[in-house]
Amino acid sequence: MKLFIDSAKIDEIKNSISLGYVQGITTNPTLLKSAEVWNYNKNLRSFYSKLLDLFDGEVFVQIPLREFQNVLDEIEPLDRTRLIIKIPSVSNGVEIAKRIMNLGYKICATAVYTPFQAIVWASLNVEYIAVYFNRMEIAGIDAIENVKNILNSISSKSNTKVIAASIKTFEQLNSLVQIGIDHMTIGYDLLEKLIESNNSRNDADKFDEDMASVIEAFYQKRKPKI
Ligand code: G3P
Repeated sequence: MKLFIDSAKIDEIKNSISLGYVQGITTNPTLLKSAEVWNYNKNLRSFYSKLLDLFDGEVFVQIPLREFQNVLDEIEPLDRTRLIIKIPSVSNGVEIAKRIMNLGYKICATAVYTPFQAIVWASLNVEYIAVYFNRMEIAGIDAIENVKNILNSISSKSNTKVIAASIKTFEQLNSLVQIGIDHMTIGYDLLEKLIESNNSRNDADKFDEDMASVIEAFYQKRKPKI
């Protein structure tokens, strides 16, 4: 199982990594735009390089289909073992994906909506497929049934992993986990809450209290009698 942070905002990303259970950072052009990355970084390369330096996980970088070579040239010096190149699941993405795979990069086919797209990408042996759950629901698709079909359409022998993306609620997250999704990318708001439960917090506080009593009792016992 892998959990990724879906963001291009450096504060959110740093906070997510400090949670200790994030294995990757997924970005896309819309996230870069909303984070206004040009205001905080010299260029795209320095932004992605900064993300790679933050931890030892994977950084997902989406390239545009138009003039993709410019972005490829820019990221060329970066560590390809941890850089995953995202390519939208459209016909002109296939040739580009194959060329990029030949350069030694791993690929994530993104914006995947149908089992047929999943079959194509799995046949090309890409590393990941990102399915857009919330956007499926917005489009009126029975999202959970659809993702189930996508999972079933990929052979268990395939190395391609399905990432559930575009998740907005715990309800969506829960239903995805129940059908066998084990890779997901989510926003910081959901991500940071995953580990907490009021019940666990109450239990942890009570354990701390009791342990303090136990330690205190040992201490009292060891105190020399006057
Ligand atoms: O990782 C994909 C994701 O960014 C798309 O999500 O929230 O724009 O539907 P959203």
